[in-house]
Amino acid sequence: MLWGGRFTEKLNATAMEFSSSLSFDINLIEEDIQVSTAHAEMLATIGILTNNESNKLVKGLSTILKMYNSKNWKPNELEFEDIHSAIEAKLFDLIGDTAGKLHTGRSRNDQVATGFRLWTKKAISNLAEQLSIFQKALIELGEKHTETIMPGYTHLQRAQPISFAFHLLAYVEMMERDKKRLQFVLDETDSSPLGCGALAGSTLPLDRNITTDKLGFSKGSSNALDAISDRDFVMDFLNACNIGMMHISRLSEELILWSTSEFNFIKLGDAFTTGSSLMPQKKNPDMAELSRGKTGRVYGNYTAIATMMKGLPLSYNRDMQEDKEPVFDSFKNYSQALSMITGMISTLSVNEKRFVEELEGDFLFATELAEWLVIKGVPFRESHHIVGEVVKIAEENNVKLHQLTLEQLQNIHPIFDKTALEVFKVDGALYRKKTFGSPNPNIVRTEIEKWKELIS
Ligand code: ARG
Repeated sequence: MLWGGRFTEKLNATAMEFSSSLSFDINLIEEDIQVSTAHAEMLATIGILTNNESNKLVKGLSTILKMYNSKNWKPNELEFEDIHSAIEAKLFDLIGDTAGKLHTGRSRNDQVATGFRLWTKKAISNLAEQLSIFQKALIELGEKHTETIMPGYTHLQRAQPISFAFHLLAYVEMMERDKKRLQFVLDETDSSPLGCGALAGSTLPLDRNITTDKLGFSKGSSNALDAISDRDFVMDFLNACNIGMMHISRLSEELILWSTSEFNFIKLGDAFTTGSSLMPQKKNPDMAELSRGKTGRVYGNYTAIATMMKGLPLSYNRDMQEDKEPVFDSFKNYSQALSMITGMISTLSVNEKRFVEELEGDFLFATELAEWLVIKGVPFRESHHIVGEVVKIAEENNVKLHQLTLEQLQNIHPIFDKTALEVFKVDGALYRKKTFGSPNPNIVRTEIEKWKELIS
C-alpha cells in the first residue's frame, strides 16, 4: 500500500478492479525499472542515499525484472493499482525497509510520465525501422516494373498511363513522410519529466541532469506543471499511427482491387491470403482487408485520448491513466499492419502484360493528343476541345483512338498529321513523359537509385 497513513479502510474490491491499470501498464515494467534505477543512483550521487542503500535498491530492481522475465514473478491485478506500486511492494519483499527510500523526491506522476516516454521512444524506433524495411520491399518490386504499364486513375476512372514502379514509388514517398513524422514525435517525446515530482518539483536537491543523461533523454522538461500534465507526445504518436495506417489502408485497398478477376493485375502470395470454407475457388485478401479495417480502431484511439484530455485542469488527473491502452493498441496494430503489407508486397506476382493490349488506343491518351496540338501551337483550351471531339467521334464509331484514320482526325482539324497517331501507342508511352516526377522509366530508375542510397 502506497499511502495508508490517513486511511482506515481498504479500497473497495470493485473500485480496485475498476481503477487498476496493472493489466496493461505491465508493458512498462522495463521502463519503470530503468527510471527507478536512474533515480536511485542519482539519490546516492547527491548524498540523499548511501551508496550501499542505492546499490541495494538497484540490485533489487534488477532482480525483479529478471524474475518477471523468467516467469518467476507476476503481480496480481486485484492486489495492485499499477505496475509502479507492484514493483515497490516486491522490492520490500526482496530487500526490506530500504525499499522505502526509493520513492524519495519522486511521485508516480513524474515516474509514469518518464517511463511512458521511454516506452514511446522505443516504439517509434521500431516503427521507423519497419517503415524502412517496407520501403525496401516496395523498391525491390518497383525495380522490376519500371516498364510495366498500367492505367493511372483519378476518380477511379482511367486517366493517364503510368508504370507499376511509379505507383509503388508513390508509397515510398508516403512512408518517408511517415518516418519524418515519427522523427518529429521522437523529438517531442525526448525530454525527461523525472524530478518534476507530483507537479512542482522538490525541496530536495535532486540532480535532474543526472537522471536525464542516464535515461538517454536529450533534455529535461522545463516546467514541472506542464511536464506532469503533458500528453501531447501521446497524441502526436497516435496521430503518426493514424496517418501511417491510412497509407497502409489505401495500398491495401489497391491490392484488394488489383487482385480481383475484374482487374486481374496481381496475385497475392499464398502466405498472406486465406481460402473460403465454402467456395473452393476463393483466395481472399484478408490481411489487406484487416489492415484497412484496423485503421478504424487506430483512429478511435486518437479520438479517445483527445477527448479524455480536453477538459483536464493542470496537472495530473487520474483520467490520464487512460492514456496507455490506446497507445499500446495503435502501436501493435500499426506494427503488425506494416509487417503484413511488407509481406504482401514481397510475395505478390504481377501480370505484366495485363494492360499492354488493352491500353492500346485507350482514351487514356487523350491528354497526350491535346499536348501534341499544343506543341503545334494550338492554345491548350482549344486543343482540349478538339480532342474532346476526337473522343466523341471514336465513341460514336465504337472504335479506340488508335483505330481512327488520319482522315477522320483531319476532318476535325486540318492541323493533324500522321505523327498525331503515334501518341496512341502504348509502346514508348511512358518514355514520352518529359517532366521530373513523371513515370518516364528513366526518371523512375533514377528515383529508385536515389531511394536505394537513402535507405541503405
Ligand atoms: N497508474 C497511474 C497512471 O498510469 C499512475 C499515476 C498515479 N498517480 C496518482 N496520483 N494517482 O496514470
